[in-house]
Amino acid sequence: MDLGLRGKVALVAGASQGMGRATALLFAREGAKVGMCARGEVALNEAAQMIRRESGGEVLAMVADMTKAEDIQRFVSQTAEHYGRLDIIVNNAGGPPPGEFMKFSDEDWSAAFNLSFMSTMRMTREAVPHMRKVGGGRVINITSYSVKEPIAGLVLSNAIRSSVIGMAKTLSRELGRDNILINNVCPGRIDTERAQKLNKARAERLKKPVEEINREMAAEVPLGRYGTAEETADLIVFLASQRASYITGTTIQIDGGLIRGIQ
Ligand SMILES: NC(=O)c1ccc[n+]([C@@H]2O[C@H](COP(=O)([O-])OP(=O)(O)OC[C@H]3O[C@@H](n4cnc5c(N)ncnc54)[C@H](OP(=O)(O)O)[C@@H]3O)[C@@H](O)[C@H]2O)c1
Repeated sequence: MDLGLRGKVALVAGASQGMGRATALLFAREGAKVGMCARGEVALNEAAQMIRRESGGEVLAMVADMTKAEDIQRFVSQTAEHYGRLDIIVNNAGGPPPGEFMKFSDEDWSAAFNLSFMSTMRMTREAVPHMRKVGGGRVINITSYSVKEPIAGLVLSNAIRSSVIGMAKTLSRELGRDNILINNVCPGRIDTERAQKLNKARAERLKKPVEEINREMAAEVPLGRYGTAEETADLIVFLASQRASYITGTTIQIDGGLIRGIQ
């Protein structure tokens, strides 16, 4: 299947590891020109080199923090200028910290809102004028399965990621006539550096071997295993492709059947 991505320009935020890196690699393999960012320069440059080596594609890596308005502005404008166009953005960054409701201060709520909502809103606002210039575009927000089934002990993610869904749905209607399509991807349990770190912390807290935690977490998934970053990238890149030209305003989980609800 030709995804029709050759020559398109795709920006992936939070791309030095995990799902962001796998997505940037797949875009490059499909012939898109890639702009990628993260905060840590060393890991970002290593990831960019790996993608150039594996795909032979064009990659522009830029240190940028998605919690900072000026970094987002620079990431979008300089990448669009470098390549001469911008077609696709993937909004992604780290997740808010775990914890129960009474633990968090106003500052914690503001920081989580800034990380998960404002980053997505600002990236999209910066990118839309560039997409209008080329007659359309794609926005894909990486959120979490928490928007469909709140996760115990993750109140910041449960509450704030839902605001991304509300914005995306509104935008999908406002920008439909501009041929700008907006969708949300909700990972379940995906085997990334982040998931491994969380399981290690859980193992230490419960004084259990990490292998046991990994097994328990995987056993709760109907498919009996964690997903891979590459499987998530397959969905994201498909949604960004010409083969997904009539899909907008959706919120799609990739979770091996983990979510119990039917929506
Ligand atoms: N893995 C899962 O099972 C799972 C499940 C549900 C939801 N999610 C969500 O999906 C997203 C991606 O998860 P992942 O597992 O791929 O994460 P990951 O392995 O931790 O990778 C996150 C990437 O984002 C970058 N990043 C973090 N904060 C950033 C910021 N403020 N500005 C720019 N880049 C930033 C990181 O690099 P730097 O630290 O160097 O910036 C890294 O490249 C997260 O929001 C996560 O909460 C993951």
